This record gives sequence, C-alpha cells and structure tokens, in this order.
Amino acid sequence: MEKLGPGSNLDTLQVLAMIPQDSFPVVVDAGSGAGRQTLALASQLRTPVHAVDTSERHLGTLARYAEEFGMDELVHMHCMDMADIPARFPAIDLLWSECAAYHIGFPRALETWFPAIRPDGYAVVSELSWLRSMDEVPRAAREYFRSGYPDMRTVDDNLAIARAVGYDVIATHLLSRAAWIDGYYDKLEPLANSLLQHAEQSVRNFAQQTLSGIRIFDSAEGNYGYVFYVLRKPRHAVS
Ligand SMILES: C[S@@+](CC[C@H](N)C(=O)[O-])C[C@H]1O[C@@H](n2cnc3c(N)ncnc32)[C@H](O)[C@@H]1O
Repeated sequence: MEKLGPGSNLDTLQVLAMIPQDSFPVVVDAGSGAGRQTLALASQLRTPVHAVDTSERHLGTLARYAEEFGMDELVHMHCMDMADIPARFPAIDLLWSECAAYHIGFPRALETWFPAIRPDGYAVVSELSWLRSMDEVPRAAREYFRSGYPDMRTVDDNLAIARAVGYDVIATHLLSRAAWIDGYYDKLEPLANSLLQHAEQSVRNFAQQTLSGIRIFDSAEGNYGYVFYVLRKPRHAVS
C-alpha cells in the first residue's frame, strides 16, 4: 500500500496554509511512513524535511519516491523512535505528525515534543477523535473502538490536553472523507477480502477486523474522524 493511513495532499496543504507563517528552517515529520506528507511539505515549503520513522522499509520507500521526484536533497531520513526527537532535534520550527502520534500516545507525544519546539514554533498532529459526545455515538462504533482504539478521545478532550501541555490552539481541521477512501480504503478493502481465506488465523483475523473498520466508517460517518490539531508553542513558554 502506498498510503499507510487515511490522508491526502490536499488536506495536508490546507492545514499547512492555516499556519500564519510560511518559512520553517527546521521541519520534522514524526512517523513519516512512506512519506506522502513529507514530500508534500518539502515540495510546498521548498525546505528540507526530516522524516522520522522506526521502519527502515518505509523510509526506503520514501527515499525511492524522493529520488523519483528529484527531491532527494529536500528529504532526510532518520530511522529512530519519535519519542527520541528532542535529543536529535532540539530546536524545531515545525513538527508535523499525521496518523502516527498514537503509537506513543497523543498526550505523551505532545508532551515529549514540546521542549523540542522553538518558542513561536508549531506542532501539527493528527489524531483519531470522537466528533460527538460518547452518548451520541452509535453503539456499533463505540464497541468497535473499545478494542480498536480505546484511547480515542473527543476533540474537546484533545484540545484540553494540548492546552495543559502549554500549546496555544491555532486551528483544527477534520480530514476529508475522500482522504479515507481514495488510495486507502478503496485499496484496503479488496486486499482484506482476498485474505479472508488465508492459511494463518492471525491474518484472517486482521483481514476481518479491517473490513469491520471499513463498515463502521461507512455507517458512523460524522461520529469520529482524523482531526489535525494545529498548535503553537507560546513565545514565553517555560521548558
Ligand atoms: C499509520 S502510519 C502513518 C504514516 C504517515 N504519517 C501517513 O500518514 O501516511 C504510522 C507510521 O508510524 C511509524 N511508527 C510507529 N511507531 C513509531 C515510533 N515509535 N517512532 C517513529 N515512527 C513510528 C510506523 O512505522 C508507520 O510508518
């Protein structure tokens, strides 16, 4: 799969445009994967982007794309844990993370990266979020995510977490429906269907779980989504 999660360049660039600044000397993309958004950012900003991921395979794919598009000088690969970003990049102007912060936990990610962001610098982090209060969410969706992503919080809860860490909230953006489907669910669905009879039980289970997720998405639209949190570290923040 080219896309490792829901996302689109259109959404990435719309969110980038919400930041009231257009020059960022140090840009880090945490959990870059194969780097769709890394390339979109580097191409738009014409500035180097540091792609951080623990997967050498994904970084290798990104390196191939960067070369193909003549952008190898604008993309730097770092095979490392996103939790270690402050040690490697102590003064970041723009920290970007799409569809990846949940790997270390959204609250922990925001806290961990805060000291590494320059005063007046930005963090843009997307996180799967409930869009309504839990008592309004259909039971099927609640049950699916009770095991699928029990840490999912409402947008208000995530905003409160960001403010408690010390960020100013500049904007939020809900990932478009098309970004879930084009090149992601429309590829994943036939792939998962083809694995339902796989010899290994774990693969069959994963395929089944994937298809359930797609069904929940179709039936529970508007109840949850990927939300981009556009955050700024205040100029006089302590840390
Ligand atoms: C769902 S993919 C999203 C990739 C990309 N940001 C996108 O939106 O297409 C999550 C990525 O996070 C990476 N990852 C998981 N845990 C990580 C960690 N602790 N540090 C750095 N990367 C990590 C995975 O290897 C994977 O590439």
